[in-house]
Amino acid sequence: MEELNRRNLLRAGGAAGTVGALSLATAANAWSWSPTGSVVGSGTGADPRWVWDDEADPVVAGLISRGETAKVNALLATWKKNNQPLPDGLPKDLHDFIEKARQLPSWYDQAKIDDGFKLTHDRGQYIILLYILASGMISTAIPREARSVYWSKGGADLKDRIAKTTKLGYWIQQPNNYKPDGEMIVTTVKTRLVHAAVRHLLPQSPMWKAGASEQIPISQADILVTWHSLPTNVMQKLAAWKIKIPASQSAGFLHTWQVTAHMLGVKDEYIPATWDQANAQSKQVLDPILAATPEGIKLADELVRLGAELDGSIITRPFLNAMTRYTLGDKICDMMKIPRDFVWDSFVKAAFPAYLAFREAALPLPLAPQGYYLFDTLTREAINLFLGEGKPIIIDIPDINRPS
Ligand code: HEM
Repeated sequence: MEELNRRNLLRAGGAAGTVGALSLATAANAWSWSPTGSVVGSGTGADPRWVWDDEADPVVAGLISRGETAKVNALLATWKKNNQPLPDGLPKDLHDFIEKARQLPSWYDQAKIDDGFKLTHDRGQYIILLYILASGMISTAIPREARSVYWSKGGADLKDRIAKTTKLGYWIQQPNNYKPDGEMIVTTVKTRLVHAAVRHLLPQSPMWKAGASEQIPISQADILVTWHSLPTNVMQKLAAWKIKIPASQSAGFLHTWQVTAHMLGVKDEYIPATWDQANAQSKQVLDPILAATPEGIKLADELVRLGAELDGSIITRPFLNAMTRYTLGDKICDMMKIPRDFVWDSFVKAAFPAYLAFREAALPLPLAPQGYYLFDTLTREAINLFLGEGKPIIIDIPDINRPS
């Protein structure tokens, strides 16, 4: 295993940090989640904190070193639909990588994806709310993610950065997400390329190095942590809110995110097969690492500020603070310095369960699911329009870090 780790480190361009990284691995808690709980039921059991993306990383490092990023971004901007052929003129290694990376896994099941969409259709409002308040905010309390986001290129323009992330959030909720006319395959493959670029670039940033406890960012374990902040966290909150979800929809939602993890380059042996396995893995990788960092606190403040900008009214920010506190709980909110407001906190505590009960009670009414879906679609479009400032949102491979 040591040899494997050393090879991966070198491949990802982190030769200078190898010795330090390995000693950190030994010091940290051992990885004990078994690959028998994964979608493929077997694997090497290698600790994912020391595994990155050995297919994407050398290709993207090569692009950046050869100064080809701008040319490649211009070409890839035209690649939008899942079934669209790649544009001519891409470097051969990149072309070959994408052709392989765009293939769906052998265990992809369209019927399950359709079941997952039913959850979005009927309860999209809660899911959007949870992606923004629970997943978005918790990501600021994940130290490695907060530091990476803050010190990478996109950290200097958080609105643009969130708009690009929202593109994935938008497409995963579409009924044709992974179908030929959808855009989720393109979005995840481009994200995989962005992550590979970050692995190459961030170790060159003096600022990131100064605060970081790792030599190469975005390991497979880091991606799992963020993954759990999304579907696992959302499912846990829906359960806490006592929303009764049909088993097929719950399994479908999980499947959609399993496919997404695979498309982002997570090895199948790390992708949990069931919610029980996901909860167990989350307990091991996400729960113990939540902590405040100066970068995370700044990002959390910026997130709430951006949310408040969304409708421009003066009540939004305290309301958003209170909703975040209600959703995430006092421990994380105090850690991230989300202000308390007795009036708003009490209002949300009393009113939100009533709102949930009303919505749930009305769901069986004839037009309710369609009506809710239309409303949710409008919300999604409005968020995209605001974040993208009316421009198309395109995910580009970065070739610099945050300038200062
Ligand atoms: C970029 C999604 C995990 C750090 C992106 C983008 C998306 C995305 C859609 C493209 C947006 C853009 O270009 O700004 C995800 C998802 C993840 C995940 C769905 C897991 C399920 C992580 C983790 C880290 C990370 C674990 C760090 C520890 C970054 C950074 C960028 C980025 C730094 C932006 C680079 C830049 O602005 O130059 N991610 N990500 N991501 N991601 Fe992730």
